[in-house]
Amino acid sequence: MNTADQIWLNGEFVAWEDAKVHVLTHAIHYGTGVFEGIRAYETERGTEIFRHQDHLDRLERSAKLYYMDLPYSKEQIREATHELIAASGFKSCYIRPLVYRGYGPMGLNPLDNPVEAMVAVWEWGAYLGEEGKRNGVRARVSSYRRISSDSLIPHAKACGQYLNSVLAKIESLKAGYEEGILLDDKGNVCEGTGENIFVIRDGVICTPPQTAAILDGINRKSCVQIARDLGYEVIERDIARAEVTLADEVFLTGTAAELTPLREIDDIEIGPPGPITREIQRVFDDALHGRAPQYAEWLDLVPVPSKA
Ligand SMILES: Cc1ncc(COP(=O)(O)O)c(C=O)c1O
Repeated sequence: MNTADQIWLNGEFVAWEDAKVHVLTHAIHYGTGVFEGIRAYETERGTEIFRHQDHLDRLERSAKLYYMDLPYSKEQIREATHELIAASGFKSCYIRPLVYRGYGPMGLNPLDNPVEAMVAVWEWGAYLGEEGKRNGVRARVSSYRRISSDSLIPHAKACGQYLNSVLAKIESLKAGYEEGILLDDKGNVCEGTGENIFVIRDGVICTPPQTAAILDGINRKSCVQIARDLGYEVIERDIARAEVTLADEVFLTGTAAELTPLREIDDIEIGPPGPITREIQRVFDDALHGRAPQYAEWLDLVPVPSKA
């Protein structure tokens, strides 16, 4: 992992190796934090962060759902991120902001613990591999169901909730697959361990709706818009497990995985990435890298610090 030299921690820039917390930090014990995964790309204009404001808005919403106010404004977090990237010298990188309950009283009530914040950046290649992005990955349906709103908050990107994804990920890797697909509590298709899912049949694109306990993915939203702009019909509806197997094309979207096609599910071949997947992937890649003027507003340029 090629990391920056510094981390932004509670309003200060500190050396990477000095960015530490107390072992009784509430979030370590009870998962009481919320976070984002964001990417910055090299474009013709410099380094630009994809949908930065949308990610910061979701961070704030996730915090609210867990009774936390952001301890710094979104603008302060945005500027700190710009400074970190500029100082790192990275042309493209992954960005991880985290807002969490810090060291204070132990016990389940976190309301008297301080709310702290950090942002880290590092260079991170394609999460499911460049080869996966090109030719597709193999997945299995997980034996774990995606968390439901009966017991947690699928809409929040909250630390403790990720134990669900961690178990499904380990299970799929140990069984020899690259990714796991989780069903929701009703047995419909929900999403991957860190990606939303799209299923294409007879030219129509379907993706599970908000009520299917998905994370409201920012790349999902982007790909829905791109597909509609390309003239495709996109329907948000419940998807039965067999529809993935019988699909003409399936792809996953997420900040880490970007757009990665699925070529096999449960040892049944879907096939190499198809023409609709390829077309959306191409436009999406252009949008990420600043080559699609119609989506230029999705990019937040990292200012180059003045030499003075
Ligand atoms: C569980 C889960 N679903 C979906 C996504 C995709 O969300 P986004 O496109 O905002 O990265 C992620 C990644 O953040 C995730 O962790």
